[in-house]
Amino acid sequence: MNVEHLKKIAAEKATEEIREGMVVGLGTGSTVFYALLKIGTMVRDGLNIIGVPTSSGTEQIATEQGIPLSTLAAHSTIELTIDGADEVDAHLNLIKGGGAALVREKIIANASRRILIVVDESKVSQVLGTSFALPVEIVQFGWEVTKREVDKVCGQSEMRGGVQNPLITDNGNYILDCHFDGIPEPEKVELQLNNIPGVVENGIFVDRADKVIIGTPDGIRYME
Ligand code: 5RP
Repeated sequence: MNVEHLKKIAAEKATEEIREGMVVGLGTGSTVFYALLKIGTMVRDGLNIIGVPTSSGTEQIATEQGIPLSTLAAHSTIELTIDGADEVDAHLNLIKGGGAALVREKIIANASRRILIVVDESKVSQVLGTSFALPVEIVQFGWEVTKREVDKVCGQSEMRGGVQNPLITDNGNYILDCHFDGIPEPEKVELQLNNIPGVVENGIFVDRADKVIIGTPDGIRYME
């Protein structure tokens, strides 16, 4: 079955948990895109909510959809966040950051009472770090030294976009994509990486998701 259909059914299922008056965290990525379209329709049909976007990309799509937006400065507690993931394990730990929005996504996750993760079934994995490289956001200053220290943890990383034309995040930083042979202790690696000077944040999300909504060819499956 078409993977876009699987993303769409998962994302639309998550929007069923949105209630009138909620402050909703709006994640980033091609799966959340379908949730944004659906929320746009719901708003045009009369639903009152306020969205807090996790990236400039999401801000743009949500604005086009007519979804009222705000910031963490005005709304520091978010009732429900809908976001995607690149890899999900059986304990609901995640790798995120494929869309380069991991810093804002983690800040919004931290401010959220409830987090729904929407994925197609290809994202489910036995051990994190076996099917997706871990994104690590680093400041530009001294990046060569930061990369050397990051590589001591993961073995090998690559500058996203390449050294000649590196991707710059919404926060003005670089992303290293770190290749692991699996991350059996994600909590430990998350802290190890964030302890390196120059690392802003990494894409390991431990114990943050309340529910994972998975689009499969047989319909929706849940992990809670
Ligand atoms: C962005 C993210 C995305 O949620 C993640 O990359 C999943 O994206 P997609 O739904 O396009 O596969 O973490 O930083």
